[in-house]
Amino acid sequence: MAEITRSLFAADVLVAEIDPRRVAPSTLLPAEAAQVARAAAKRRREFAAGRLLARRLLGRLGVPEAFELLAGEDRAPIWPAGVVGTISHTSSRAAVAVARAGDVLALGCDLEHDEPLDEGILRRVCDPREREWIASRPLAQRGRLAMLVFSAKEAAYKAQYPLTGKILEFSDLSLDLDPGGTFRAAFQTDVGPWRRGQCLRGRWHRAGGLIATAVTIRPGETGPGALHAAARSKKEGRSGG
Ligand SMILES: CC(C)(COP(=O)(O)OP(=O)(O)OC[C@H]1O[C@@H](n2cnc3c(N)ncnc32)[C@H](O)[C@@H]1OP(=O)(O)O)[C@@H](O)C(=O)NCCC(=O)NCCS
Repeated sequence: MAEITRSLFAADVLVAEIDPRRVAPSTLLPAEAAQVARAAAKRRREFAAGRLLARRLLGRLGVPEAFELLAGEDRAPIWPAGVVGTISHTSSRAAVAVARAGDVLALGCDLEHDEPLDEGILRRVCDPREREWIASRPLAQRGRLAMLVFSAKEAAYKAQYPLTGKILEFSDLSLDLDPGGTFRAAFQTDVGPWRRGQCLRGRWHRAGGLIATAVTIRPGETGPGALHAAARSKKEGRSGG
């Protein structure tokens, strides 16, 4: 299967994808399985797909196969010490990206079906400036561009979260999309180490009926604020072995 997310990341970020319909929940390790024991079958498959991919990639970074990638109370995965990562899934594709924490501070990835975003959701996701930009585009493209804005904000949200612990509103980020496949997400308020107006940079790609977006935050791109992740992995006392 061609990896839709490969072009979104530099070579020091490992990526893997799979169709979650091909993954059995029985591939989960015991504590992982317990976290979704009461979930619907589709959710258990998605969760298992993310864990299966993560295990493969973590193995390439030297993390033992027995490492259980648990979800925190906030639902964010608790990556082993020394590793950052991100997970996304749709009904037909799951993607995981991981990197060494020395190279990358945080990753965020999002996959969506390449379909028009529902009008009601569009009004919640897009600010007036983004709506104006979408309205300036050909009618046939608008709904899918709105979906792209939605996905890029989700990817930016996931990337900033391990560093700030902040749950953002869609209005906290304002998007500028470049047709060539890059975007900037500008903070509309101070968040963690970022001041209002500072940007996260990302990439986007469309293929096979999907939209994929990703943000990579490198050391030096955040100022002196990357404390949340370090404090958290210390608190959890988790190790990648
Ligand atoms: C986390 C969130 C973005 C997930 O998006 P989604 O499109 O529903 O689902 P995806 O498949 O793309 O991503 C789900 C994965 O994100 C990861 N995730 C969950 N919460 C996360 C967080 N706070 N930070 C980073 N990653 C998180 C998990 O790995 C999850 O998969 P898993 O439960 O199987 O491990 C979304 O559900 C959420 O919590 N949103 C609240 C904040 C928000 O959206 N604000 C507006 C954007 S600025």
